[in-house]
Amino acid sequence: MHKITKITARQILDSRGNPTIEATVYSGKSFASASVPSGASKGVHEAVELRDGGKDFSGLGVKKAIKVIEKKIFPLLKGIDVCKQRTIDLLMINADGTKNKSRFGANSILAVSLACARLAARIKKKELYVYLSSLSKTKYKLPKPYFNIINGGKHADNKLSFQEFMIVPQYSSVKKNIQAASEIYHLLGLVLHKRFGKGASNIGDEGGFAPVKLNKIIQALDVLVYCIKKSGYKVKIALDAAASEFFVKGKYLVDGRRMNSKSLLKFYFSLIKNYPIISIEDPFSQEDFASFAKLKALSKIQVVGDDLTVTNVNRIKKAIENDSCNCLLLKVNQIGTLTEALDAAKLAFYNQWKVMVSHRSGETNDSFIADLSVALGCGQIKAGAPARGERVVKYNRLMEIKGN
Ligand code: PGA
Ligand code: ZN
Repeated sequence: MHKITKITARQILDSRGNPTIEATVYSGKSFASASVPSGASKGVHEAVELRDGGKDFSGLGVKKAIKVIEKKIFPLLKGIDVCKQRTIDLLMINADGTKNKSRFGANSILAVSLACARLAARIKKKELYVYLSSLSKTKYKLPKPYFNIINGGKHADNKLSFQEFMIVPQYSSVKKNIQAASEIYHLLGLVLHKRFGKGASNIGDEGGFAPVKLNKIIQALDVLVYCIKKSGYKVKIALDAAASEFFVKGKYLVDGRRMNSKSLLKFYFSLIKNYPIISIEDPFSQEDFASFAKLKALSKIQVVGDDLTVTNVNRIKKAIENDSCNCLLLKVNQIGTLTEALDAAKLAFYNQWKVMVSHRSGETNDSFIADLSVALGCGQIKAGAPARGERVVKYNRLMEIKGN
């Protein structure tokens, strides 16, 4: 029995320069910390963060959330065995008492939840991924990373309607996949600069390039294909359309055109036909389960639910009933506890879905999700470009894990 004896929390900055939380959980002299990320293109059904409001940090401060950890969550968890993850998470869920964790804040709850798991692993002298795989009862395996190297949508100050253009190197070694991604990333920077001049290799929130003059989806895909070919590596392409962000008054605004769901579906088919696309995330708005299902039924690609499913078993059940997806994007902060995220993954696996573990656009230097992706044995992770500290910390952690 390793009782929780102390919990502290502090405000740190995330990769966009906004406040977020780092929590530290103690059991006697042992302790471990975890910090939480924050999205920009959030789904409306996500668990919500507790923010201070007011003038400081444009209202994004987390002093209230830290107070919740110290004054409400610590008294609740004091004396509980830190190795009892489900008990810990259920205590926090019940004490919060809301459906979307709005009282305590998903940011407060998650920071503690993840720090407890890291401390339990430390106490048991296990690698984090080994401990997590014992919680999820899955066989651990290194994943294939999806590298977001062109940024659009809400993550960039350009006109690209789709949010993420990802490359997926097809080797069994993580190290080789990361090397391929790094080389293609740099090649792309040079090509963009050469074609579009100064400023073309500026970057977006997830470290991918965000060229202002490259404003059509097909242009972005063409330049990716050019760089992939030139590199000589075996690489596929994946997209996160994040379609809720360009769904305005019942129409999708894509490349300066207003499309209904039928014409957007046709557009996806033409892209799939002409480019080596293996996966599309959030192809339609977060309420359009039926259009997701059409794309899934009529194509062979992976259809990923993010804003549609928000790592929430009730939304995932609805997507299963509608046959909308065949892959769940797993973001721990969409639901707010590790236990619920593991339950979401379990439900997805049980229904023959794949799972892709994901970072957020506002990240910290915590590499927890790298271990989580290995623990689940799900085979897929997306953590942004192969550049910028908060992104590469995840990829570097994968390279540290045995099996490469
Ligand atoms: P977000 O973007 O973290 O800004 O929500 C990531 C995604 O949509 O997958
Ligand atoms: Zn997404």
